[in-house]
Amino acid sequence: MLRITKIRKTFHRGTVNEKRALCGVSLCLKEGDFVTVIGGNGAGKSTLLNMIAGVYQPDSGVIEIDGTNITRMPEHRRAKYIGRVFQDPMKGTAGDMQIEENLALAYRRGERRGLRWAVQEKERELYRKALGRLELGLQGRMGTKVKLLSGGQRQALTLLMATLKRPRLLLLDEHTAALDPKTASKVLELTREIVEEDKLTALMVTHNMRDAIAIGNRLIMMHGGSILYDVSGEEKKRLTVEELLHKFEEASGGSFANDRMILSK
Ligand SMILES: Nc1ncnc2c1ncn2[C@@H]1O[C@H](COP(=O)(O)OP(=O)(O)OP(=O)(O)O)[C@@H](O)[C@H]1O
Ligand SMILES: [Mg+2]
Repeated sequence: MLRITKIRKTFHRGTVNEKRALCGVSLCLKEGDFVTVIGGNGAGKSTLLNMIAGVYQPDSGVIEIDGTNITRMPEHRRAKYIGRVFQDPMKGTAGDMQIEENLALAYRRGERRGLRWAVQEKERELYRKALGRLELGLQGRMGTKVKLLSGGQRQALTLLMATLKRPRLLLLDEHTAALDPKTASKVLELTREIVEEDKLTALMVTHNMRDAIAIGNRLIMMHGGSILYDVSGEEKKRLTVEELLHKFEEASGGSFANDRMILSK
């Protein structure tokens, strides 16, 4: 359903700050694939997700969703297909708006604004149900401003908003990294539940090797703007953190996994 062919991206080309972020990355995802993405700092993970979401355009290469070439499609038009959750809990929601208003925005994603903005009772019921799924008690606080929520509650809400209207593709970029360990594992568990129950296709960047192995049906490792290792099915299930670290060292020509990866193994 997602086909990426040889995308390349260099930032600030021709200047002293030139940075090659992606060096001809190709990747195909099947319907229902849940792929975890690992790699050291600057490996190109976020750039890859940003290319798919349309934040940046590649210098060359093609990105297709369901056979449609979206390489040059503007970001706001892709929002119809793509749900996103970033690392920063402040980013995916509007703090000065109520929980209910945030959900209504998500519900209207990809539609023209202005028409029938008022939240209907029928919709409210849908939101209440969706919030109930989080088991955080937010269904009784729909009029609360989002800025009053904790980071974890806010990130759980962002996840809900990204998936309220079933996206063709869900992109998660270290979406639990800024949360305390207990909240992080709760949000991760929710992610797993939503992706499985709604049979979503998802790409999840994480620096936690244990999570990368335990979650999803496929794992890719990036380094220096390329995919170095791509493993799925039974082989992925049998992987250990030690093997993964070894693969990383092997594939990256002896450079070691960064501290964050090692510390969080
Ligand atoms: N907007 C930008 N402008 C200039 N350089 C950028 C930009 N975004 C990314 N880069 C550069 O591209 C390379 C890849 O960065 P990217 O953010 O994709 O890495 P990452 O794998 O997500 O790393 P991290 O684990 O630190 O999040 C890095 O060298 C980075 O400095
Ligand atoms: Mg990143």
